Amino acid sequence: MKDVTYQELQTRYRALIEEETDPVANMANLAALLKEAFGFWWVGFYLVHHDSLVLGPFQGPVACTRIPFGKGVCGSCWKWSAPIIVPDVHAFPGHIACSDVSASEIVVPLMQQDVVIGVLDVDSEHLNCFDDTDRQGLEELARLLVENSQFSLNLLP
Ligand code: SME
Repeated sequence: MKDVTYQELQTRYRALIEEETDPVANMANLAALLKEAFGFWWVGFYLVHHDSLVLGPFQGPVACTRIPFGKGVCGSCWKWSAPIIVPDVHAFPGHIACSDVSASEIVVPLMQQDVVIGVLDVDSEHLNCFDDTDRQGLEELARLLVENSQFSLNLLP
């Protein structure tokens, strides 16, 4: 069921970004699509800016603006260049709590030519909300975003 929703989202997102290469516009619409389709608590982006991740377009409550390399779930995803599923955020050492309501979380990297340029972060108010279907679905959406957008990079030296 969830996989069908992701497939539908991918089709809609492809059409949305077909003629748009602006990364902010494309990140903003992806956050909105995901929030609307699944009702997640928080959906948004952090982009690599030298030694930190800086908050980008998002849907949901106010969030922390900067996350250092290797810190929290997002900084760990950047460090490991790999998606992270956290069934219970309180059990993840170093988790950064932007909201007390968040209970589980998934973070997937935005990869450009094997380099992490940012992350897509999704939070749920329910424990154990995310699984491999979400990972695959979000990774594909992240791939479409990067492939179709002209990101200007401020990567680590
Ligand atoms: N929980 C994240 C911080 C970002 S907020 O969830 C929006 C982390 O540990 O990196």
